[in-house]
This record gives sequence, structure tokens and C-alpha cells, in this order.
Amino acid sequence: MSEKIILTGDRPTGRLHIGHYVGSLKRRVELQNAGEFDKIFIMIADAQALTDNADNPEKVRQNIIEVALDYLAVGLDPEKSTIFIQSQIPELCELSFYYMNLVTVARLQRNPTVKSEIQARNFEASIPVGFFTYPISQAADITAFKATTVPVGEDQEPMLEQAKEIVRKFNSIYGEALVEPKILLPENKACLRLPGIDGNAKMSKSLDNCIYLAEEPEEIQKKIMSMYTDPNHIRVQDPGTIEGNTVFTYLDAFGRTDHFERFLPDYSSLEELKEHYKRGGLGDVKVKKFLNKIMQEELEPIRNRRKEYQKNISYVYEILKKGSEAAEKVAAQTLADVKSAMRINYFEDESLIAGQQEKYCE
Ligand code: TRP
Repeated sequence: MSEKIILTGDRPTGRLHIGHYVGSLKRRVELQNAGEFDKIFIMIADAQALTDNADNPEKVRQNIIEVALDYLAVGLDPEKSTIFIQSQIPELCELSFYYMNLVTVARLQRNPTVKSEIQARNFEASIPVGFFTYPISQAADITAFKATTVPVGEDQEPMLEQAKEIVRKFNSIYGEALVEPKILLPENKACLRLPGIDGNAKMSKSLDNCIYLAEEPEEIQKKIMSMYTDPNHIRVQDPGTIEGNTVFTYLDAFGRTDHFERFLPDYSSLEELKEHYKRGGLGDVKVKKFLNKIMQEELEPIRNRRKEYQKNISYVYEILKKGSEAAEKVAAQTLADVKSAMRINYFEDESLIAGQQEKYCE
């Protein structure tokens, strides 16, 4: 009993970026390689992506391979982690259907992530039902694999809360069939929500402020050199502000002491660099060049591994197919547990049949 199980995933609506990387992907790979978990499931959430892309299924279809390539590129290993596609696991729909009875409309309306997504998509009066209820389907994703740990970004916190409530409610009504999951957030504050290169709080494709994992070196450099800093830090000698300065936020997220030794030996720590910037006399270009070296080093092996997998796309689909088959077996077992807890497993319930018979016997 009490296996340690990870489930997490991403919507395939575009290539993954460095916000996904520090927010969740990097941690998944570390957890995978530390070997402390009994099972790891990584899901490409295509069905969830369709909840707000119903009119553009081709976008979702095209991006499944992009996300899969990004997964393999960062070092998720199909030998250690089961990578699968959500829509290939019909049991998830069935679980959602039963969980829907345990959640009120008012509760869904209060979900802060759904609220802000509705605003961002201008859905207000025309929210697709599927989109509105995706937190329930996400609870099905998590519980189908009896996940104990869900490594995700901060924006997923309301989903985890909702999932926990569903588990508690289910278990209290039907008996302990489901496992309550725990969220695992990045420890580094800068990684909780990496801003876009323009300083916007959210890195997102629609804002065109991302650095993608697959990005070429020249493009990475160009983006870093154009990054938002302190708009009042005009001349080198001006004192600068660290707070809200994207370059320093990225250094908080990606920087390590050994980077200084190798790339910027005049300083021994990020604190020292920040102090100099605040005092004045340190130019943005120097800090950006330092960040660029760090990012290039971090992203190069990822890009190279991706290129290797890109040569063999059918092999990547094979990984997804095998992963989906393995994942379905696990979800099917949970669904059987759920149905038996709910006592809707009529044909396996001999006491039910015998009892019904008795009613009609003298
Ligand atoms: N909502 C997640 C995202 O937007 C994707 C997702 C779907 C997910 N199901 C999940 C994440 C289950 C963790 C667990 O990225």
C-alpha cells in the first residue's frame, strides 16, 4: 500500500517554454531520476485542450508531438515515466461523469483559475460546458492514477484543491476508494511564475513573450538582449531596481554560484551582482550577457536531444502509444474500484442478484 505516484501533464496548445521548464518540467525529471517514486505518469492533456479549442482540433493535434518532443528533450525517460495522451483513456470520461455529481456549479464558478481563464478568453456569456467543468475532469486525471503527488505550477493550485474536495466527498459517501493528492510547487519563488521577456507576469504564446525550449541559440540571445529591465536605469552609472526586473528574476530562477566562476568571475554571488546594480555602475548589457551564457548552457542539451528525437517521429508516437496502453490499464482498475465502491458493478455483485431474487420468492 501507499505507493508514491506522480501524475502531471500539459495542454498541447503550443511548444513548451522555459516557464514550463522551471515551473514543472525540470522538477519532474529530477524526481524521475531520484527514483523515489513508484510510478510516474505524464499526460498530454489533449481532451482538456479541446475544452477551449473545440473549433480548432488541428491545433491540438499538431501540438501533441511538440509537447512529446519537449518532454523527451528535457530528459523524461519513457523507461521510467509513462507518457500518454489523455483522449486515449476513455475511463477518464467515465470517472468525470460520476464526479460531476459531487461538485456544485457555484463551486466551479469560484475556481480562481477558471475565472481568470474565462476572462482571458472573453467567454463570459458563452462558456463551453466542457471548459467550465474541466477542473472535474482534471480530478479524474489525477485520481485515475491514484496520484499522491502532482508537480505543477502555481496556477494549478485551485485545480488541486478542487480535486481534493472531490476525493474527500467521494470517500465519505462511498468509502475510501480514492487517494488524496498533494500539490508539489517549485521551491524557488522565481520559478513559481516566470515572467515573459517583456516583463508581463505571465509567459504565454498569445503574448509573444516566450523563450521556447526548442529555440535556436541566436534567437535566445536576441530575446535576452531585448528583455525588459528597469526602465529608469538609463545610464550605466544610474542606480537600478531589482524588483520586477526580468533579467534578475531569470537569474533568480536559473543562476547558480558556479556560473559566476565560469562566466562572470568579477562577482562571487547573485547578491553581490544585485548590490552593484542597485548602487549604480553596472550596465544592463553586462547582466544580459551573463544571463545569455547561463541560458545557452541550460538549453543546448535540451535542443540537441530534441533534434535527435525529431529524426524519428514514428518512434515518438510509438512511445505515446505504449504509454497510453499502459496508462489505460491503471485507469481501468481505478474505474472498477470506483464502480464497486459506488455499487454500480451489478453483474459482479452476487449478493445483489441473490437479494433481488429473494424479494420475489416466498
Ligand atoms: N491544467 C493543466 C495545464 O493547463 C494540464 C493538466 C490536465 C493537468 N490534467 C492535469 C496537470 C492533471 C496536472 C494534473 O497545464
